[in-house]
Order: sequence, then C-alpha cells, then structure tokens
Amino acid sequence: TEPSHGAMVPTLKGYACQRRTPLQHHNALLTDALLVLAENAEFCEDEGRSVAFRRAGAVLKALPQAVHKMEDLQGVPCLGGHSQRVIKEILEDGTSREVEMVLQSEQYQAMKALTNIFGVGVKTADRWFREGLRLPSDALNSGHKLNHAQQAGLQYYDDLNTPVTKAEADSIGQIVEEAVQAVLPGAEITLTGGFRRGKPTGHDVDFLITHPEEGKEEGLMPKVVSWLEARGLLLYQKTNINSYLEATDGPARPPHNMDRFERCFSIFRLERPRASPEQHPQAVGEEQPQERGSPLGRRASESPGWKAVRVDLVVSPVSQFAFALLGWTGSQLFERDLRRWAGQEKRMSLSSHALYDSTQNRYLRPCSEAEIFALLGLEFIPPSERNA
Ligand code: CTP
Ligand code: MN
Ligand code: MN
Ligand code: MN
Repeated sequence: TEPSHGAMVPTLKGYACQRRTPLQHHNALLTDALLVLAENAEFCEDEGRSVAFRRAGAVLKALPQAVHKMEDLQGVPCLGGHSQRVIKEILEDGTSREVEMVLQSEQYQAMKALTNIFGVGVKTADRWFREGLRLPSDALNSGHKLNHAQQAGLQYYDDLNTPVTKAEADSIGQIVEEAVQAVLPGAEITLTGGFRRGKPTGHDVDFLITHPEEGKEEGLMPKVVSWLEARGLLLYQKTNINSYLEATDGPARPPHNMDRFERCFSIFRLERPRASPEQHPQAVGEEQPQERGSPLGRRASESPGWKAVRVDLVVSPVSQFAFALLGWTGSQLFERDLRRWAGQEKRMSLSSHALYDSTQNRYLRPCSEAEIFALLGLEFIPPSERNA
C-alpha cells in the first residue's frame, strides 16, 4: 500500500534535478531564512552545513503551496533536524531567533559586505574580518594590497551591487553579438545563467559562444576582448584560455567545480539609455568623466551616463555545447544535484564538457540538453523550472 503522505505533496523527489522548481514560489519567508543560515555557514567555511540549508530551501521552493504547519511537510525530503526547527519556529512565531541573531551579528554583516566586493571570496573576507576590516571602504583605507579584480570591485562597488535588469542584459547581448560577428562571422551566442531561467534580474550576465564548425571557435575570446577594448566597452577583464583535454580531464578525475573553457570574466561599461529632457533636464548632453573621484558612497546625483555590469563570456566547441549550456544555465544547486545524481545513481560522471559512463567505460555523446537528461534517466526539466 501507498505510504500515507501529507495531503499536500505526495511525491517530492530528493534530487533538485528530479523536481520542477519555478522562479515564483509560495514559501519565501522560509527560504529567505534558510538562505541566511546557508550564507552564514559558508562564511564559517562549513560547506556541508551550507549545502544542507540550501537543499532545505530548494525543496520548499518546489512545493505547490505555502506551508502553514509542520504536518504539511510530511514526506518532504531534504529537511534536516536543524532546518525543521527553524521552519517550526517561523511557522509559530513569525521569525526565527537564530536567523535574527545571525542577521544582527557583526561577522555576518561584515562578511556579507566584504564578499559583495567582486574579486573577494570567503577566504579573503574572513582574513580581512579577523584583521578588523568591516566595510568595503576599510579595504581601500587599510593599505591592503589589492589585486586588479578587487580594485575594480571596489571602484564599481555600487553598480555591481545593483541588480542587472533583463533590458540591460539584452543591451549587453546586442554588443556581444556585434563583437562576435565582427571577429568570427557565423558564431552563435546564447544567454545562459539566471536570465535563461527567466529571472527578471541578475548579479551578472552570462553568455555562451560557439560556432557550428568545430575548431572555428578556437582563440575567439582574445579577439572579442580586443574588439570590445578598442571601443572602450570594458572596464575590467580577465581571460583564460581553454585547458580542457578529454584524455586527462575526463572521468578519472572528480568533477571539477571550475570548467576549463576559454572564458572571460569582465565588467562592461554599459551606456545608460538617454533620459528624456523633461524627466532629467541636467542629465542630457552632460559629458561624464570615465574616472570617478570616490569609488564608494557615490550619490545618485553624481550618477554618470553609464553603469558597470558584470559579464561572463564562455566559448565552447560545438561538440561540447550541450554540456556547456546545461552547465552554465544553473541554478548552482540544480547543477550540483545533476552531478550528484549522475555519480551516485547512474555511475556516470557529468561535467560542463562531457558525460562518461563508468559501467560501459565510454563517453556518451548527446547533442542536446534533452538528450543529456534522457541518458541520465531524468525527465527533462526546462530552464524556467531549474530555479532550485
Ligand atoms: N558557473 C560555472 N563556473 C563558474 C561560475 C558559474 O560553471 N566558475 C555556472 C554555475 O553552474 C551557474 C551558472 O554558471 O549555475 C551561472 O552562474 P552565476 O552567474 O553565478 O549565477 P546565476 O544563476 O546566473 O545567478 P545570478 O543572477 O546571480 O547571476
Ligand atoms: Mn549569472
Ligand atoms: Mn550568482
Ligand atoms: Mn556568472
């Protein structure tokens, strides 16, 4: 006989890649709280705890209704004891004391502000915190040696922490399209990341570039970067060459977090649409200097006619395009669970480059995302439902 589940959700599966997770869901109060705990665990470099809280949040995003009482969660997977206690407290009292304490804590607030600097990860932020730094401006004034990414991160801190809109992403897309066509006619660009999943805003814009003829894409990135730089469109860029070799980077190694495509982490200088004279009389025709005096705490009235926007460009050979597209569409938890599913349930190794079957000892060669899901024995989940 069927086990008796809560009336609401008979069959939520344990891997995010087995579930449909839309962007809009019904439990934001709970998922926001769990996200704070996940971030805090990450700041304490406790990856396991962080993933556990993220998994708990992700499963709540897949529920078709709001949770009102603990019985609504019967049969729902991925909820550890700690997450359940937090959920219970919020359902009963409206807030969780633990979450409120974290939000108030000096460490969480400082780590949040410092890791919001482009180029500053948890390790650096943690070292700075222990040295007494609390705010991004402290990093400027402390005499710490900053690398180029961190300098740009501080210089454009406000813009880079203002969400990128879909309209801005589309404008960037037109520029990238023009650049790519100019240096390699016939190349194709695809918007990936959160915008492909239907998000209305993002922290950056992600593009995947390929060419229908294998090999034509080699060395494309430096040419695209030169084209953009010659037009003053890049405020920062770091380009990596492709270092993927199937023979050495394939199944023998554990799946890498970082893929090995030719890629560019960049900051674009995006012209703002001209404001109409009635709305902003002083903004029209006003030449703005490219260098800003004070990188932090710029007031809105000083806003120049452009915005700094983080853009990730990735070049894939067409033979790996389906893997690259799947790998760069996210969400990060969806990707993590795809790889975990492949390894634990199918004895396969999935990366953004390839799929290896350890039972047959051979690479599988799917040509589309749909074929990859099928080979993994998964129902196809469209990008708009990968928002785990
Ligand atoms: N990714 C990756 N390797 C990296 C960075 C990102 O493979 N070094 C992949 C991740 O799997 C992620 C996707 O690229 O799912 C997009 O990453 P990111 O831009 O960080 O996140 P988004 O989902 O696009 O969300 P946001 O709106 O915050 O940009
Ligand atoms: Mn993104
Ligand atoms: Mn992100
Ligand atoms: Mn990105």
